[in-house]
Amino acid sequence: MKLVFLGPPGAGKGTQAASVKEAYPVAHISTGDMLRENVKRETPLGKEAKAFMDEGKLVPDELIINMIRKTISGDACAKGFILDGFPRTAPQAEALDALLKEMGTSLDRAILFDVDDETVVSRLTSRRVCSTCGAIYNVHFDPPPEDGKCRNCGNPTIVQRKDDTEEVIRKRLQVYHHQTAPLIEYYTSRGILSRLDGTGPKDAVLALLAER
Ligand code: AP5
Repeated sequence: MKLVFLGPPGAGKGTQAASVKEAYPVAHISTGDMLRENVKRETPLGKEAKAFMDEGKLVPDELIINMIRKTISGDACAKGFILDGFPRTAPQAEALDALLKEMGTSLDRAILFDVDDETVVSRLTSRRVCSTCGAIYNVHFDPPPEDGKCRNCGNPTIVQRKDDTEEVIRKRLQVYHHQTAPLIEYYTSRGILSRLDGTGPKDAVLALLAER
């Protein structure tokens, strides 16, 4: 299984990838999580990426492509992968195709989670995440435990992401519509795009995903 999860910020890509991973032995590769880890460890990549991320802009293609290349061709992805948040631009999509071709393989499907902008703003302003393990919560739909400890890793490290303010979310949406949405046509023209309604409850979206 080699999938790309496409969709605006807050469409539920990370949430659904985590559910699929529970049922199948595939790697969940989130470029956002990888970048946040680099920011946390203050690596050269993290230092360079931070300002772009804080403003809701995309990190330059060459940094992202270099970061992901090793991961996709590594052992962790041998049984398949879900790419969550990558590719996000045409050069990234082309680089991914070229890398998979070098590896003698190709993508199975690109899944587009269709969610309108106002739903995105509402979901992301109420999102909370565990800064240790990346588990995703939502104050309204999936609240964190009352004792504040993550139910996945047990650490008291549930926080609001710095880029989940309304101002930055609206910037990320603009970036999505201008730079990432063209990939819908890219994958449609290759005959591998599946579009699904991402606005229903989490389990309903997972059921739609299972049909694809
Ligand atoms: P990234 O971390 O990838 O953020 P994003 O794409 O903006 O996506 P999100 O993580 O915000 O949303 P999601 O779709 O995973 O939604 P989630 O499942 O959490 O990127 C962050 C930044 O890193 C970028 O802005 C950029 O700077 C940089 N970056 C990353 N990749 C890059 C790349 N390839 N190129 C360049 N730069 C890159 O769900 C959201 C909320 O909704 C949660 O609270 C969840 O509980 C809730 N929810 C989910 N599903 C449902 C449902 N069905 N019903 C109700 N609530 C739901």
